[in-house]
Amino acid sequence: MDNKEIVLSGIRATGNLHLGNYYGALSKFLRMQDDEKYDNLFFIADLHALTTNPDPDQLHANVKNIVTEYLAAGLDPEKSTIFVQSDVPEVSEMYLLLNMHVGIGELMRTASFKDKARKALGIKSDSEDIEHEIIGNETNKRVNAGLLTYPTLMAVDILIQKAHKVPVGKDQEQHLELTRRFARRFNSFYGVDYFPEPVNFDFGGKPVKVPGLDGSGKMGKSEGNCIYLIDEEKVLRKKVMRAMTDEGPKEMNSPVSLPVQNLFSLMELTSSHEVLQQFKDAYADCSIRYGDLKKQLAEDILKVTLPIRERIIELQNDDAYIARVLRQGAERARERASVTLREVRDIMGIRKFY
Ligand code: ADP
Ligand code: TRP
Repeated sequence: MDNKEIVLSGIRATGNLHLGNYYGALSKFLRMQDDEKYDNLFFIADLHALTTNPDPDQLHANVKNIVTEYLAAGLDPEKSTIFVQSDVPEVSEMYLLLNMHVGIGELMRTASFKDKARKALGIKSDSEDIEHEIIGNETNKRVNAGLLTYPTLMAVDILIQKAHKVPVGKDQEQHLELTRRFARRFNSFYGVDYFPEPVNFDFGGKPVKVPGLDGSGKMGKSEGNCIYLIDEEKVLRKKVMRAMTDEGPKEMNSPVSLPVQNLFSLMELTSSHEVLQQFKDAYADCSIRYGDLKKQLAEDILKVTLPIRERIIELQNDDAYIARVLRQGAERARERASVTLREVRDIMGIRKFY
């Protein structure tokens, strides 16, 4: 157990899991939990969800949804530690400590912060000077400090468990880069070789970015372009059949437009190599019919999602089981977290007199 590499990842409790979460994160968790080399911890980030001020009952329901979906997709509490972020109070204390070594400038330059700050202030364009807006805004619209320090909290999730590998999608790379920077800074400021520098993990491939069905670059909850693991068969088929395409290729070997490329990318994840090649060839020789492509794609996605959906429905009503899993997970996650917090306090000079 002791010389295993520590793997940790989490998903924010902001709604049901979609195909982006599945291919960007969850499917990697599943492969890692079956590998003897790793000691795996997977959690639900409820504190991170607070940064966008959710309705309290909705937040609580979302946490339950994600645990259920984790379990339904195959995360196994006997093999992995499954827990809720706020069940490890050591995280909150270490977040305060680590913030003393984090610059507000570097936080303000984070892409996800700028994005969310723009949303909070109702700014549409990328070019506007948001620093000015954040400081000078006198309306009710505000950017809360939790949103700014989101990367500190994420770094603490990782560092408190001394994780080596963090399987996440491409959009989280910048947060991981910051985590490495904070770890290096802490180590060098105190002259210790304490925190390992965590890396993303992708089984040798590139980090995946699952596209949306609306021709946009990314499938995401806030984009409203998602296929959810919990989607009913009919709903899912309808979403795929409505996916954006174009007028179709007019000449042999013409370049592929973004919406159509997105459908090919989804096929790459869910369909066999032969099926994908067949449609790519049909595109190249202009015989493609997007209706057929979508039908096939829906079929192949359903093969992945329907069995998971069935298990979600079974597990949804088993509150006692979910409670057992989370209690056990919290105990295990706190074991290492409490040791790290004690050592970090000592390193920083917060020591007891009694
Ligand atoms: P969302 O963008 O829908 O709010 P989250 O930010 O909660 O999703 O993401 C949880 C995990 O799923 C992260 O590891 C993230 O990288 C991954 N993820 C989310 N959307 C995608 C996507 N479209 N492609 C690849 N990975 C994704
Ligand atoms: N920021 C991640 C996301 O939006 C969620 C997250 C929080 C996380 N803490 C983490 C992911 C620690 C990996 C490790 O998806």
